[in-house]
Amino acid sequence: MLKAAVWGASGMTGGEVLRILAGHPEIELTVAVSRGKAVQPVWTVHPHLRADFPEMTFATPTDALTAPVDVAFLALPHKASWPVISEYRKRGVKVADLSADVRLRNMAAYKKWYEQEHPAPDLMKEAVYGLPELHREELRGASLSSGVGCNAACAILGLAPLTKVGLVAEARLELRVGSSEAGAAPSRGGHHPYRDRTMRVYEPFRHRHLAEVAQECGLPESAFTMTMTAAPMVRGVQMLAQARLSRKVNEPELWKAYRAAVGDQPFWTLSPARPPHLRLPDPRLVLGSNRALTGFSLHEDGERLLVVSAIDNLMKGAAGTAVQCANLMLGLPETSGLTMKPVYPA
Ligand SMILES: NC(=O)c1ccc[n+]([C@@H]2O[C@H](COP(=O)([O-])OP(=O)(O)OC[C@H]3O[C@@H](n4cnc5c(N)ncnc54)[C@H](OP(=O)(O)O)[C@@H]3O)[C@@H](O)[C@H]2O)c1
Repeated sequence: MLKAAVWGASGMTGGEVLRILAGHPEIELTVAVSRGKAVQPVWTVHPHLRADFPEMTFATPTDALTAPVDVAFLALPHKASWPVISEYRKRGVKVADLSADVRLRNMAAYKKWYEQEHPAPDLMKEAVYGLPELHREELRGASLSSGVGCNAACAILGLAPLTKVGLVAEARLELRVGSSEAGAAPSRGGHHPYRDRTMRVYEPFRHRHLAEVAQECGLPESAFTMTMTAAPMVRGVQMLAQARLSRKVNEPELWKAYRAAVGDQPFWTLSPARPPHLRLPDPRLVLGSNRALTGFSLHEDGERLLVVSAIDNLMKGAAGTAVQCANLMLGLPETSGLTMKPVYPA
């Protein structure tokens, strides 16, 4: 078994990496890092994993760095991840990051969206954007994969098949997101009495994941707007993109473009054309799994298109994708540890 450390293991996505590793046939969790919970049993924070990790306790960051591992998963807040990436890269350990620290290639875009110069531009250059559906061959044998924004991943999987063939002129993206996107720490907006059953709109036009969408779709940021809605669910992201196409198309052309991109990807599926109630993806159909769904509906004018995609933010939008990247980087089967089915109904 290969050995793995998980940093931010007391958090929302860190816990999800632990859940995946509990069933991974080739990667074993040997170090779960927490600053505040060190020496406490892992299951006191993640009680659903008590049977999987009955004895394991959280390690301090200092102890963790002395433990020999083959791969490190960093489920840390942005700006906390890059120093840990640097430490592991000095030791020759492969890193699957989950934060925003090495997602962008353009330094000016990083400064604009994260409001500081990037402290380690070399890591930005070394990292492969951690979405295997677009970067599979670069990830094979790579040393560092970036995290993906969960909203960005959902949007990219909806739009990249069309931008790749030059079909999108511009798109207005509406993202409906679950509460787990905000992480494990309590906040006023996330407190249950206020968050439950909400439909709160925030960050009109310009959520920072827009930078990743522009980067991965190969269009300028000005081609997109991205507005968020906190929706009444714990997990899940659904993207609705109203796109203006660069020319008039028909449905068979769109199916061709989407089929070319999706092909036989293990975790990415196109929604069926029929029956109509299944044509546009619902996040409930992927919860708990590493799967992504994409569907579309063409306006009768042939120039306006509604694209809908859905993922579980903690899985395809974070931990699942990070493990998929690690599998590729370590030369393991891409789907190892990730074949869990969605929970439905949930
Ligand atoms: N939630 C999502 O849906 C989602 C999706 C995609 C990507 N991400 C990204 O994944 C990362 C983790 O997100 P999350 O939702 O899992 O957050 P979280 O629940 O807040 O967990 C982050 C963990 O990191 C540790 N931590 C916090 N501040 C730290 C610091 N300054 N230095 C070192 N450790 C620190 C904390 O553990 P201790 O205090 O115990 O050390 C905390 O449990 C973020 O970068 C986020 O943007 C999240």
